[in-house]
Amino acid sequence: MRAWLCDNPVGVDALNWKELPTPQPGAGEVLIEIQAASLNFPDLLIVQNKYQMKPALPFVPGSEYAGVVRALGDGVKGLQVGQTVACLSGTGGFGTHTLAPAKLCMPLPAGFPAVDAAAFIMTYATSHHALIDRGQLKAGETVLVLGAAGGVGTAAIQIAKAVGAKVIAAASTDEKCALCKAQGADATINYSAENLRDALKALTDGKGPDVIYDPVGGDLAEPAFRSIAWRGRYLVIGFAGGPIPQLPLNLPLLKGASIVGVFWGDFARREPQANAAMMGELAQWYAQGKVKPVIDRTMPMSELKAAYARMGSRAVMGKLVMVN
Ligand SMILES: NC(=O)c1ccc[n+]([C@@H]2O[C@H](COP(=O)([O-])OP(=O)(O)OC[C@H]3O[C@@H](n4cnc5c(N)ncnc54)[C@H](OP(=O)(O)O)[C@@H]3O)[C@@H](O)[C@H]2O)c1
Repeated sequence: MRAWLCDNPVGVDALNWKELPTPQPGAGEVLIEIQAASLNFPDLLIVQNKYQMKPALPFVPGSEYAGVVRALGDGVKGLQVGQTVACLSGTGGFGTHTLAPAKLCMPLPAGFPAVDAAAFIMTYATSHHALIDRGQLKAGETVLVLGAAGGVGTAAIQIAKAVGAKVIAAASTDEKCALCKAQGADATINYSAENLRDALKALTDGKGPDVIYDPVGGDLAEPAFRSIAWRGRYLVIGFAGGPIPQLPLNLPLLKGASIVGVFWGDFARREPQANAAMMGELAQWYAQGKVKPVIDRTMPMSELKAAYARMGSRAVMGKLVMVN
């Protein structure tokens, strides 16, 4: 097997595409032959030692992938050799094979291709948990999605439309805004060219969005929060823009609004039954064509460094997927 090995987490340049012995699964594990692995923002942070999870060295990055089960460890039930699965295990995906805990593997129904499956769990679960559970988004309400052409952003557009909300998608280029429109956004704002507050006022008759979905942070957070509607919910998803914003606490008071933290990974660990029910609904929505990952492009696994550069330069629209 081959895999991208990180033995010094100082950035992408230090990764090596290495030949390694193919491992045998231990108890509760399966060996997966990886067909596709997607890039998520944490994959960029983890190789720089900037992510909350710090794996023991050396490790293979690649949080999310799909492939075929090739061997079962002792005690594994409910999975079979030859079955196709998707898995979000945090590491291991950027290679040809990996060992994964069997309990994290989701068997794929027929008609769920590996490229879509590798680009599904993290973004759709985060956006569903954020908008529907934490944000209590209802049909007829208006949601503002920041960084809307990114991985979690495109999933958020589709999920908000699936529940009947009006979507204002905001992104940094006209090309990204056009992609958001094609994904069903009712209106778009290019925040590199337009004043976010003025545009939101115009698009909501001065009322502001009921829910704000923010995976970007930085300088966008305060003007966005100042525009929120009465009883609005501001969903804190992430800080892809860099700095963690500081909000004056008089702002939620003045709007009767809530700042709502979203941490899907811990939700899945702490509330596994609720998470399983949510994943079931998402799989159903995929089968019904209500949601479908936007694939920026696929690239050969050996070109991971170029893929990281594309993500780091803010060029990706939707999800970038590495394939074997
Ligand atoms: N809370 C949770 O449970 C959870 C779960 C998954 C992900 N996240 C977080 O959500 C965020 C987005 O993840 P993602 O996988 O959707 O990433 P992504 O596909 O790269 O999208 C991030 C978006 O952020 C914007 N951005 C602004 N400044 C940027 C910069 N300096 N570098 C890169 N992007 C920048 C870009 O949109 P524009 O160019 O249009 O501004 C980009 O499309 C990350 O912070 C991630 O850690 C949180």
